[in-house]
Amino acid sequence: MDIFLITAPGLETLLAAEAREKGFKVTQTSPGGVTLRGDWPAVWRANLQLRGATRVLARLTSFRALYLSQLEKNVREVDWAAVLPRGADVTVDAVCHKSKIYHAGAAQERVASALAAHGHNADPAGFGLRVRIERDIVTLSLDTSGESLHRRGHKEAVNKAPLRETMAALFLRDAGFKGKEPLFDPMCGSGTFPMEGAEIARRFDPGRGRDFAFQSLPNFDPDAFEAMRSPERAAAFSCYGSDRDQGAIAMSRANAERAGLADVTAFEVKPVGEITPPCDTPGLVIANPPYGGRIGDSTPLLGLYAAFGARLKSAFPGWRAAVVTADAKLAQATGLPFRPAGPVVNHGGIKIRLWQTDPL
Ligand SMILES: C[S@@+](CC[C@H](N)C(=O)[O-])C[C@H]1O[C@@H](n2cnc3c(N)ncnc32)[C@H](O)[C@@H]1O
Repeated sequence: MDIFLITAPGLETLLAAEAREKGFKVTQTSPGGVTLRGDWPAVWRANLQLRGATRVLARLTSFRALYLSQLEKNVREVDWAAVLPRGADVTVDAVCHKSKIYHAGAAQERVASALAAHGHNADPAGFGLRVRIERDIVTLSLDTSGESLHRRGHKEAVNKAPLRETMAALFLRDAGFKGKEPLFDPMCGSGTFPMEGAEIARRFDPGRGRDFAFQSLPNFDPDAFEAMRSPERAAAFSCYGSDRDQGAIAMSRANAERAGLADVTAFEVKPVGEITPPCDTPGLVIANPPYGGRIGDSTPLLGLYAAFGARLKSAFPGWRAAVVTADAKLAQATGLPFRPAGPVVNHGGIKIRLWQTDPL
C-alpha cells in the first residue's frame, strides 16, 4: 500500500533521503510529505525509526465520488472490522480540492456517519482518519502515529521556542551530521540538537520510548515490532550544549537523563560570548538562536549573532557552523562565511532556514 510521511513543508527532500537510507521504498516526494510503498510492518518501522516524519499515514482505500451520498456509501462498504478495533472512536478530518464535493465539513459528517454505522463514534481522542478529495478521487488514510512523532517521549520540560525534534533531525542531516563527530549547540534551550545528535551517534530509534496508534490496531504483531528495534552502538563522540539560562540547562540535563543519553551528552551554563570548543576534535556547531519572529524584534539580536560569529571565528578552527534562523540579516550579522542558505522551512508559521559554513 501507499504510506504517506508528513513533514514540514521545505523538508520533504531531506526526509525522502532519510527514508531511502533506512531501506524504505520512496515513490514520490510532494509538498508536505513523502510517499512510500510498503506493508504494515513498514508502517510500524517508519514510525519507530524515521527521525524526520511528523506522522505516518497508511492509505486504506481510494475511490471516485461525485456526490456526498456516493462518498458515504463507499465508506460504509469498507471492511472496518479488519482495520479498526471493535467500537473504537475515530476523528475524521477532510479536505477537498478541485472536486465536485467541495464542502469539507459536509464530507467529514458523511464519513463520520458511515463509520458510526459500524459502531465507530466521533471523538477527538480517537483514531485519526484523513479524507482527501482531490479531483473527485477520495483517499482514506489512517493516522498510524497518534501523537505527533516529534514527541519522542523523553521531554517533560521544554524551554521557550523549542525546535521540533523532527526538524532538528533533518537539519542535522542537511548539515551532514552522521553521529561520527562531536556536536555543540551553544544556545541549546531544552537540548533538542544535542539530544537528537546523541541519539544518532548511539543509533537509538527515535520512537523507542513512546507508543503509537498502530499498536492498538487489530493487525498489530508485537513480536514482529519488537524485532524491528535497532541494535544500539557506542558513541565515538559526545554531544554538548550550553545556554546562558540556568533553567534551560537543568531541563536539558533532565531530558537527556530520561532519554538514556546522560553518558553521551554534557551541558553547561555559559553565555555565547564565552564559549570554547568542548573537546579537542572539531565537529559541528549548530544553533537555533532566538529570532525576532518568535521571541521579539530582530534588531536587538544583531549583537548576539555578531558575538556568536566572532567567537566561532576566533576560537573554533576546523569546526563547521550551522545556524537556524528566520532572518537573513541575523545570519549575516554573524560575519560567518555561509554557503547559500538551505530550503525555507515552515516552523509553526515562521519561515526558517539553515545557514552553513565549511570548516572554519
Ligand atoms: C530559540 S531558543 C533555542 C531552543 C532550542 N533549540 C530548543 O529546542 O529548546 C534560543 C536559546 O538561546 C538562549 N540564549 C539567548 N541569548 C543567549 C546568550 N547570549 N548566550 C547563551 N544563550 C543564549 C536562550 O536562553 C534560549 O534558550
